[in-house]
Amino acid sequence: MRRELWIGGKWLQASEYTALTSPYGGGVIAEVAQAGEAETGLAIDAAELAAPIMARMPAHERSAILERVVRLMESRKEELAGLLVREAAKPIRTARGELARTIQTYRFAAMEATRIHGETIPMDAAPGGEGRVAYTVRKPLGVVGAITPFNFPFNLVAHKVGPAIAAGNTVVLKPAGQTPLSALALGELFAEAGLPDGALNIVTGRGSVVGEALVRDERVKAITFTGSPEVGIALRAKAGLKRVTLELGSNSALIVDESAELTDELIDRCVLGAFSFGGQVCISIQRIYVHRLRTDEFLGKFAEAALRLKTGDPALDDTDVSALIHPREAQRIDAWVRAAEKRGARIVAGGRLLPDGVYAPTIVTGVPEDEPLSCREAFGPVVCVESVDSIDEAIARVNRSRYGLQAGIYTKDIHAAMRAADRLEVGGVMINDFPTFRVDHMPYGGVKESGIGREGIKYAIEELTELKLVSIRI
Ligand code: SIN
Repeated sequence: MRRELWIGGKWLQASEYTALTSPYGGGVIAEVAQAGEAETGLAIDAAELAAPIMARMPAHERSAILERVVRLMESRKEELAGLLVREAAKPIRTARGELARTIQTYRFAAMEATRIHGETIPMDAAPGGEGRVAYTVRKPLGVVGAITPFNFPFNLVAHKVGPAIAAGNTVVLKPAGQTPLSALALGELFAEAGLPDGALNIVTGRGSVVGEALVRDERVKAITFTGSPEVGIALRAKAGLKRVTLELGSNSALIVDESAELTDELIDRCVLGAFSFGGQVCISIQRIYVHRLRTDEFLGKFAEAALRLKTGDPALDDTDVSALIHPREAQRIDAWVRAAEKRGARIVAGGRLLPDGVYAPTIVTGVPEDEPLSCREAFGPVVCVESVDSIDEAIARVNRSRYGLQAGIYTKDIHAAMRAADRLEVGGVMINDFPTFRVDHMPYGGVKESGIGREGIKYAIEELTELKLVSIRI
């Protein structure tokens, strides 16, 4: 299967194609266009041409297009989930879950398109402001450059394309190199839903070429990026006056307080949070701080549950964990585990490479805080479990991180919960839940090296619109 570029509402050939291989098994699944600077320029031309059409389109029409996208996705969700299995090795049950969330995300975008409000400003609050009525409106920015990661190839694209279109912008989308097929499927789908040609352009290729061209082009008014801190920070440095939203990584932490009941539900949440999609989730649980009096009981139950996970072929219904996105990622995780072990860490479960690029779901304890396994983003099926003596120690250890996306705490003590809510340096605190919790309309984003700006449709629309003031003398 040869996949071209989607530009200006039609397929366009590129001068270069590369083979896309499946992370599980390594077979070639497609030949994918690699756009150069010239092709990226054509996509920006098309997006710029469509920008006034989208800016003038009434909210109810933008909403109706997004609603039609919802219906089209619903009718094709099994086929689309199959793309995630092939290009990302996402286990089929997890892939179906992502499709369900993606449909929700576009549904929220359809709803939010009809409620983009301003506010009235009491101008007479300042001397000299009397005799005026003033209000604000939100205007689309124009061309938005969206750069998306491999881990949620449909839903994290929806978190950029959905709000951008809802707000009346046009988009040039550059999907992750490993997951172009799902993004390319959107071109015809949006066209069928009635989106004007050029309002969504999908340009596959290398980040160093396409991403670079997007960030350098003055016609692109905003960059919305999800990916690594290194790339995000570099993009921002080059972005000049463009709006920039960055959703970056994390080594998310969960606190299990002395008062928490170690129920099956809590253990299931820890397993899901640490190992879902092999831990390749920005809010995957990477560190768990358990009160010293509960650590042995917790580790016993957690390890037993982790060892029950099925690993292997992502196409099988009972597979929980499959191949990491690339064999070198499994090797990197193994090197991090071995390095921690050398410094005295104990492997409680897993800790080894399995066939076909899979890494065994792994629990480690006694990991020094400055080991990569603890202090850097693992993006793999590994979790460090450490004992703490108090809530204050747990909070301090969670905060000793360069990242700050989300954190969780299980406790029955309202004071402990409120102290954690107040003091944890993160974008979102989940009380009596895992840090991996996300529904698609809530504000989502981080502090420190986890990024800037917020997603969650309503909040992303704020990032992708310009506030304009109108003042009328009466
Ligand atoms: C992410 O990995 O940044 C997104 C997590 C999610 O949407 O659940």
